[in-house]
Amino acid sequence: MLSRLLNFFLFLFFLSTLPNNISVIAATSKIELIEQNWPFNGIFGRFDKASLQRGFKVYTEVCSACHGLRHLSYRDLAGIGYSSDEIKVIAGEYEIIDGPNDEGEMFTRDAKMSDKFVGPYENDKVARLANNGAYPPDLSLIVKARAGGADYIYSLLNGYKDFPENFEAGEGMYYNEYYPGNQIAMPPQIEDDIVEFDDGTTASHIQIARDITSFLAWAAEPELESRKSLGVKTLFFLVLITIMLLGVKRKVWKNLD
Ligand code: HEC
Repeated sequence: MLSRLLNFFLFLFFLSTLPNNISVIAATSKIELIEQNWPFNGIFGRFDKASLQRGFKVYTEVCSACHGLRHLSYRDLAGIGYSSDEIKVIAGEYEIIDGPNDEGEMFTRDAKMSDKFVGPYENDKVARLANNGAYPPDLSLIVKARAGGADYIYSLLNGYKDFPENFEAGEGMYYNEYYPGNQIAMPPQIEDDIVEFDDGTTASHIQIARDITSFLAWAAEPELESRKSLGVKTLFFLVLITIMLLGVKRKVWKNLD
């Protein structure tokens, strides 16, 4: 019975890892992604809050110049460990066009906790104009939207190289090993010490790439931890009930032999 139970678990474990594997295979048909051991992978996956806060800083100081996070509200930052007072200060640094007021006019006000993240551009046209015709996609769901997920984003941020000889490079494009087609309109963003982390962590290129990727993974699925812990609880419950049912079955059928 024990070995059957074990097999059942191994099977469940296999199922839980399946979607990740499939997407990695899909993305690696050309080039292997740089695979990282993310703390949020696996059935016991958890986010590292310190890393998320550092990643948020990278987003704010670097990526938010071109990319929005329109599915997040400022109050969601409570999920990565900020207090209400801290979030009010963070939100207060942005302005929002609201209205109309009683005079029928639109007005500008400071953002509140309940507002969605303020994006960098007024509309898609302005965004393209500022980026050589390319559109910097909203990053709220990008980790879910790309095959390879977090590994792809991490690889992309580390994938800039010089153009190989004889490569027909477009105007204002950059060579990136992991981007489909290998030329991307986004300039390389990360370099050592481009931000200064409040917790004293050395802001190396690799650390920055890891932290911003973790932050984007959280942004795409803030409920990941509760989903996984519910999954684990459900598994324990199922084991318990299986054992109880087996016991009952034995007892009921004992005298029939
Ligand atoms: C100067 C503007 C700019 C900044 C700053 C910037 N990006 Fe981009 N990003 C772009 C543009 C433009 C594209 C679209 C590229 C294309 O279509 O070729 C893009 C695309 C992307 C993509 C999508 C790639 C894909 O597979 O489609 C990701 C992910 C991304 N950026 C992440 C980041 C991260 C993380 C940061 C911060 C560390 C960042 N970007 C900072 C301009 C920027």
